[in-house]
Amino acid sequence: MNLAVIGSGGREHALCYKLKQSPKLKKLICIPGNAGTQKIAKNIEEDISNFDALYKIIKNQNIDLVIIGPEQPLVDGLFDYLNKKNIKVFGPNKFASQLEGSKAFMKNLCKKNNIPTANFGTFNNLKNASDFIRKNGAPIVVKADGLASGKGVSICNSTSEAIIKAKEVLKGKFKSSSTVVLENFLRGEELSYFVIVDENSYKFFGSAQDHKKVGEGDVGPNTGGMGAYSPTPLLTKKLEIKINKKIIEPTLKAMKKLGHPYKGFLYAGLMINKGEPYLIEYNIRMGDPECQVLMMRLKTDLLEIIDLITKNKIKDLKIEWTKKNSITIVLCARGYPFNHIKNREIRNLLKILPDKKNQIFHAGTYKKNNKIYSVGGRVLNVTCVSKNLGEARRNCLAIIKKINWTDGFYRKDIGWRLINKK
Ligand code: AMP
Ligand code: GLY
Repeated sequence: MNLAVIGSGGREHALCYKLKQSPKLKKLICIPGNAGTQKIAKNIEEDISNFDALYKIIKNQNIDLVIIGPEQPLVDGLFDYLNKKNIKVFGPNKFASQLEGSKAFMKNLCKKNNIPTANFGTFNNLKNASDFIRKNGAPIVVKADGLASGKGVSICNSTSEAIIKAKEVLKGKFKSSSTVVLENFLRGEELSYFVIVDENSYKFFGSAQDHKKVGEGDVGPNTGGMGAYSPTPLLTKKLEIKINKKIIEPTLKAMKKLGHPYKGFLYAGLMINKGEPYLIEYNIRMGDPECQVLMMRLKTDLLEIIDLITKNKIKDLKIEWTKKNSITIVLCARGYPFNHIKNREIRNLLKILPDKKNQIFHAGTYKKNNKIYSVGGRVLNVTCVSKNLGEARRNCLAIIKKINWTDGFYRKDIGWRLINKK
């Protein structure tokens, strides 16, 4: 099969890495990709919001199946656009993508179907939003309704701060929507829970915990994710059953009832409190960096899985995972998650040889004159798998030392919840 992966992050490099192992794969292209995907796929530079241009590439390259990595093209309807042109695509359609693209849509769906989530209100004017904030008190969570690259959520410890943040959203700080969603603050431990879904059934597709805050000890501003690990003992069999029965199944049923059965990866961001799951958010894609650790643990052929999903035949496939522990540490450019430095050479990278247990998944990198440069905020994902999580982390840290990139920084404490216990 000839495949095209859309995107340029660590998630897409990890997907390409796993797809490349499939005996069914003939050709792999990545649009636009990064310096990492370039080693295993053919990168084709294109603006992924230009659907006509993407279609031309897909036709010219004789692509049989397109896998869309990031949320923005899904929310903008790339599935629907390509599907209309008879191109086979893996991912949800535009309507179903509202599960991530509109927090108001997701929260209303939860309310209608009794899916456990924080109490909330959605508002288009400051007076009503302020009344809700005063009535509910702090801490309170203020969210932009639409996509905001992980920057649209503020956890406010005072009502006055919440009113300021709500005002910013209502005034259009985030281009995707000026509706504000206000939520009660949930306490507990976060879990990233994944399923892969076709029109007839769904399968567990791994779990992980990530570290969203930029600083060690989980402090400072939120980021796209500074590191992740999998598996996690937080997910017990009992909890998994609860998540499926109370959250995943009612959601899939509701989407079907709305006339848009969900298809693709579905990522539930959950808060676990006293053994009970609460939905914080849905993402309509794999997590980044969670995908990196999961692709190191997946034993089943990913292309086979995705091919069966597009045919609505996933039901009979057993998806297998190694029990070993995987961890990824994200190497970021200085300044991230704010204005970060760009176009800095990363030396030594080409000297480090990956193997089945140790991979460096690229994110914001490019290659020029046989040298690798940084361009994004999150630049590399050093990812290791081992019987022991502590050892996996030590191996990651040893690789990062070899890279020795003074323009970057990373957290040394990824996985602290588990590693410090040992
Ligand atoms: P979201 O983009 O909705 O996932 O929010 C980003 C992060 O903000 C989550 O991963 C949580 O850490 C935090 N968060 C969002 N909503 C809540 C909530 N209602 N209670 C507590 N923390 C939250
Ligand atoms: N790791 C968080 C995300 O992918 O949204």
